[in-house]
Amino acid sequence: MTASTAKRKLFLGTFVHSKALSELEYLHDSAIAVDETGKIVAVDKDCGDLAKARETLLPRLGWNEADVEFVQSKDGEFFFPGFIDTHIHASQYPNAGIFGSSTLLDWLNTYTFPLESSLADPVKARRVYARVIRKTLAHGTTCAAYYATINVETTNLLADLCLTAGQRALVGRVCMDSALSPDFYKDASPEAGEEATRKCIAYIKQVDPNMDLVRPIITPRFAPACSAELMKRLGKLAEEENLPIQTHISENKNEIALVKELFPPAVLARATGDESLAKQHESTYAGVYDAFGLLTSRTILAHGVHLTPSELKLIADRGATISHCPCSNSSLASGAAPIRRLLLDHGIPVGLGTDVSGGYSASILEAAREAVLVSRHVCFNAPRDGERDKLSVEEVLWLATRGGARVVGLEGKVGAFEEGMEWDAQLVSLGRVVGEEGDGGMEDEVEGERGNVDVFGWESWPDRIAKRHICATQPNPT
Ligand code: GUN
Ligand code: FE
Repeated sequence: MTASTAKRKLFLGTFVHSKALSELEYLHDSAIAVDETGKIVAVDKDCGDLAKARETLLPRLGWNEADVEFVQSKDGEFFFPGFIDTHIHASQYPNAGIFGSSTLLDWLNTYTFPLESSLADPVKARRVYARVIRKTLAHGTTCAAYYATINVETTNLLADLCLTAGQRALVGRVCMDSALSPDFYKDASPEAGEEATRKCIAYIKQVDPNMDLVRPIITPRFAPACSAELMKRLGKLAEEENLPIQTHISENKNEIALVKELFPPAVLARATGDESLAKQHESTYAGVYDAFGLLTSRTILAHGVHLTPSELKLIADRGATISHCPCSNSSLASGAAPIRRLLLDHGIPVGLGTDVSGGYSASILEAAREAVLVSRHVCFNAPRDGERDKLSVEEVLWLATRGGARVVGLEGKVGAFEEGMEWDAQLVSLGRVVGEEGDGGMEDEVEGERGNVDVFGWESWPDRIAKRHICATQPNPT
């Protein structure tokens, strides 16, 4: 379907979205009008049935009923913004759940690099990428920041498949050239890494010229896998093309020690030609990325479990963002990231990531639940101000939508239901008849008895997505 043939749509019923970090808004008996380009042109909080819409909203918009498709949520259903996965390795999907007792560095060598390397086979890559897109969409993820592999052809295939499925995506061709990368899976040189990345950028610009749905993202894997020269080139390229950047930071203590060892001030000074900057950064992990122009307001840093106060200040000063991956951080025994401190004390934007296959689940709802639980562990381990580190369910749903939108550079475009934003939503069914256990209505169903959002009770939430409407201009992928 193209923009010119797409129909105007009127969604009617119940809408739930994050109004603020700690506040969900419930819009009952409401209507949202979406124009033929997929933009929300009206949010009417008192117009939830067809008769009222005919009487008031359609005339106000000057819309003829014959040109409009109506979509009504049923009892027990509500529209919710599509989830945003700010960190997922599409190429690692076949390994979801396989980590044994390994931690980051041996996990990469044992499980991850061999699998990623095997996706140079386009037949296998098509099978894996089509499945991960189908699965994430089934979990309500309408936008994902994907890592592919170092292979150009199949990275481009991932972009094609996202476009066909109508899933918004940042698609990153993985760059890694250092001695820490295995010989069977690495860029031959910094020049080769940059050149391959340029090819993927050019391809995506060709297949989605306005980058409405799919964008390239510069992807140095992480500092230990990259030479100084490669990171320097990628920093320049990101600036030149004004593109987002994604990488990993401060996930695991051995990894942090390795960065210190690989990038002492003398190496940074030589690579950047700036001795005072090298000294100032004292070889911190964030400082290394900053030295190479990789720490920007368009940068997504996955994990950030063990960041020091000076790194947090540097990240905040640069406006860089964090992808919180609680499932992966628990599975690989990396640690518990203090997310409320990052958000509230440092003002760092945060979203949620599944980090498949460090994380075993491709569901952002699952990541939201795990973020709640992991925040309890932050509390147990370093109690401060009573319960100040505990994330609420409202907060993790904000991270899954509005927070994620900021992280992937789509703030004001997706993540909530407001005029001027794109219609990017999932229709959720709670699977119970409203009023079955009392007549408290939708809030009773969505929230627990004490008024807290009962996301833990949404057991089969992802499986019960009745129908997805991602962009009015995109084919429905169901
Ligand atoms: N650090 C570098 N590469 C990876 C990866 O693939 N997954 C995770 N979790 N951390 C990484
Ligand atoms: Fe990762």
